[in-house]
Amino acid sequence: MSTLNAISRRQFVVNGAALAASTFVPKRLAATSASAAQKVVIRTDSEIGLVRPEFHGHFVEHLGSCVYGGLWVGKKSHIPNVDGYRQSAVEYLKALGVPVLRWPGGCFADDYHWRDGIGPAEKRPKRVNIHWGNYVEDGSFGTHEFIGLCRLLNAEPYLAGNVGSSTPRELRDWIEYCNYPSGSTLSDERASNGAPEPFRVRYWGVGNESWGCGGNMRPEEYARLYRDFAVYCREFGGTELFLVASGPSGNDTHWSRGLMDGLGWERPQGVSMHYYSGGADRSTSFTVDHMNEQLASYAKVEESIVHQRAVLDSYENGKKVGLILDEWGVWDNIPEDDEKRYGKLWQQSTMRSAVAAGLGLNIFNRQADKVYMCNIAQMVNVLQSLLLTDGPEGEHCVRTTTYHAFSLFKPHRSKRALRVETEDPSPLGLSVSASKGDRELVVTFVNPRPDSDLQVECTLKGSFVDGGTAQILHDVDWNACNSFDHPDRVVPKQQPIRVNGSSLQLDLPRLSVATAILQIH
Ligand code: AHR
Repeated sequence: MSTLNAISRRQFVVNGAALAASTFVPKRLAATSASAAQKVVIRTDSEIGLVRPEFHGHFVEHLGSCVYGGLWVGKKSHIPNVDGYRQSAVEYLKALGVPVLRWPGGCFADDYHWRDGIGPAEKRPKRVNIHWGNYVEDGSFGTHEFIGLCRLLNAEPYLAGNVGSSTPRELRDWIEYCNYPSGSTLSDERASNGAPEPFRVRYWGVGNESWGCGGNMRPEEYARLYRDFAVYCREFGGTELFLVASGPSGNDTHWSRGLMDGLGWERPQGVSMHYYSGGADRSTSFTVDHMNEQLASYAKVEESIVHQRAVLDSYENGKKVGLILDEWGVWDNIPEDDEKRYGKLWQQSTMRSAVAAGLGLNIFNRQADKVYMCNIAQMVNVLQSLLLTDGPEGEHCVRTTTYHAFSLFKPHRSKRALRVETEDPSPLGLSVSASKGDRELVVTFVNPRPDSDLQVECTLKGSFVDGGTAQILHDVDWNACNSFDHPDRVVPKQQPIRVNGSSLQLDLPRLSVATAILQIH
């Protein structure tokens, strides 16, 4: 693509102030400065839809040190914990707010049998995790521990059911165990395991990646199975279920059409799509070309949301089916050394990853009428995580650049997304989203370019600004990260803004994510 070639041929700039702030800037990045003015129009008179808090959902899997050693260290651990949950992780996640949490997988879900994770911990069977390294699981983190975590975080639980190696009966029983108030053998068993109150779990995934690790099925085979399972997934004790069918990998319309055709009259409440943005390099040593390639792929994420929504809408009652981006984020090239040291798929987040998160979260706002829920993969230690620990035994826990990017989007939650017009629609052009609440406007800007600082001039159509503030996450070095030695290397800072009448101006340096919160009338 010409933009990428042009960028790769360019020399890059590091200005004096930025250089002083960064000791990690690669020496090869020195040359001339590029800066440009960008005009943006924010249509406060044109709403798209609700920014559902669920756009900022999360996913945890029994994979590497995500659960064991990450979130769950056990009650007897030397690591400070709250009833077995790593205390620092709980505090950081509570501060961020976790609207919804999906568990136990991923691929793991289709080899998980929920009865292995209930009852006295010492009696739980030990199973081999066939998907993620053949290590032995002791099942000490099961349904009760997961619900306990959700309650601590005030997150809505989302359980992924096993279709690939299980039966409708097993899933039906899990739902009864969780949701039936009392008096049945399963609900009484839950009570005797310490939870007399029903868990009231609404979100249930019916399989995961059924086209791959969840059963290697063709869409018509999965649709047939989905119908079998759905018949027995019932409302127990008044908790209305929201069933999520396994949807496509990326923009695979063959799968989504085959699924919808095969479902007949049966309509799930949600269909999940998984979209990972692959990366050719190790997280902390990306080349500029590979970074640009990865960031440009977010245009495809947006296109996929639009296409997949159109596919669902083309079926009778398809409009009622929520499109869920169940797993998303950057999946870089992960060196074996890091995996051996810290756990499988352990991946650092850098300034590049924060920009990627910002591009994704901006898309969800802009497509607020087309998506229902989006869950970043994964919450701790795996892929584009929010938190990193130094291995299962390590006491350190750092907030990644991705955590901070998510925190900059928090003010959008439950506001109404607005239409925005920008000058440069190319994949690496300035990305903007806006939302409006009661006399408050939130605007997030992402500058994905490594070679261009922007002076952004926004015009508000339909409102006037009374004042406001902005925060920015920025580093000229796209490989900059929060490490155990420098946990606060990349954190949000105040960014000056200028407001006047219906205009807002701010400087947006290369590789930055910034949120302005404005009071408007
Ligand atoms: O998130 C890691 C894996 O990616 C999940 O287990 C699977 O669903 C996907 O392929």
